[in-house]
Amino acid sequence: MKRVLMAAAFAGLLASGAVAADHSEMHNMMMKQGGLQPDDRVELKLPATMKAMQKNMMRKHLDTVSDITAALAVNDLDKAGAIARENLGWTPAEEQRCNKVSEITGEKDFASLGMAVHKKADELADAAKAGNRDKALEHLAALIKNCNSCHAKFRH
Ligand code: HEC
Repeated sequence: MKRVLMAAAFAGLLASGAVAADHSEMHNMMMKQGGLQPDDRVELKLPATMKAMQKNMMRKHLDTVSDITAALAVNDLDKAGAIARENLGWTPAEEQRCNKVSEITGEKDFASLGMAVHKKADELADAAKAGNRDKALEHLAALIKNCNSCHAKFRH
């Protein structure tokens, strides 16, 4: 019995040691990133179901960015252009979706930041169609920066 208890205590010690190590690792990581900073981005006050839908769409956007990059990497400009146009281009449906979020939340910037991404996707598609991979890559970099301009401003 005594032995069992001791084994249990020892296991407990080991476990708490492991937790302490994890904690200090996390601490170091956070300090490297500039310490503990408050998340002072603007909260988008959307219903939970809309937040889930928006995040689902976001993950699709990231997939699209990956697919465009892969097509440009193998110099398939037609494919890169088509993906950019079809999945991210500016359409009345996209306009409606972006405007809806602005309407519900009262955050006008959401629609304009969204439009900037979609219009950049069209510019990327135009450059790809014209056979200019360098220009298409420049637009891709700008497009990703546009994604992050919105992430820098808004959160759920
Ligand atoms: C107009 C605003 C806006 C634009 C533009 C935008 N996003 Fe987002 N994105 C958001 C918001 C808001 C969230 C939710 C952040 C949170 O959870 O606090 C988000 C979250 C995400 C997430 C995390 C999804 C998850 O499952 O948690 C990914 C990935 C993402 N965006 C990718 C992209 C990519 C790629 C682009 C550009 C092609 C993009 N976003 C453009 C507003 C935007």
